[in-house]
Amino acid sequence: MAPSPEQRQIRVLVFAGSLRRGSLNERLADLAASVVEEKGGTVDRAHMADFDCPSYDADVERGDGVPAEAQRLRDRLVAADAFIIASPEYNASIPGCLKNAIDWASRIRPQPFNGRQGMLLSASPSMAGGNRGLWSLRVPLEHLGARVYPDMFSLAQAHEAFDDAGRIAAPVLQERFDRTIGCFLELVEAAKHYRPLKKLWVEYLGEHPDAAIDRVEHTDVEAE
Ligand SMILES: Cc1cc2nc3c(=O)[nH]c(=O)nc-3n(C[C@H](O)[C@H](O)[C@H](O)COP(=O)(O)O)c2cc1C
Repeated sequence: MAPSPEQRQIRVLVFAGSLRRGSLNERLADLAASVVEEKGGTVDRAHMADFDCPSYDADVERGDGVPAEAQRLRDRLVAADAFIIASPEYNASIPGCLKNAIDWASRIRPQPFNGRQGMLLSASPSMAGGNRGLWSLRVPLEHLGARVYPDMFSLAQAHEAFDDAGRIAAPVLQERFDRTIGCFLELVEAAKHYRPLKKLWVEYLGEHPDAAIDRVEHTDVEAE
């Protein structure tokens, strides 16, 4: 349904970094999607399986190009104003399937993460809620020029944190979750209307120019 005039004119890609059925991060992504809609945004709800690629291989890239799953991630990123990823923590870091999809999508030009607003969530049975994994996930996303929101929500003891309606059972945590997503949406909306925000992506800003190895892009992130 098209947003009414009083709704925000922003579209958010939401997905979890887990492939398994019954994923806690899928549940957190569902909840994030419902909060975005409650606050007037439009959601594109995707799943890790949509973007799950064979392991990155430069020979495959040279021969066959970027796989359809990475192209799909690119298409859905550029169709959105922002993305929210709910990611598991594996061994204090990023799940391989998610990193692999980011790596493949980063090979596409214009590079689709540049200038996009992103927010990171995690859910884990642990006491830290998978928060360490999000610090690892920030690294490739920020390296690629995404504007990753400083506040990250990590749901601790997530296996027993949801109520039957799929909300966070502890009211104070649900309220923090709502408020954090609300603040993120305000920033996304502001960034969308401040068009000259970011045009240039330079992999290493202080590197002396060398056409053979430069990774520099002049991109209007609003232009797609
Ligand atoms: C290979 C592997 C490594 C894991 N490492 C961590 C970890 O470092 N920290 C943590 O909190 N949980 C860890 N876990 C447990 C996951 O948080 C738990 O399986 C969680 O439910 C995965 O997310 P999902 O439910 O969205 O699939 C690990 C699980 C696997 C399979």
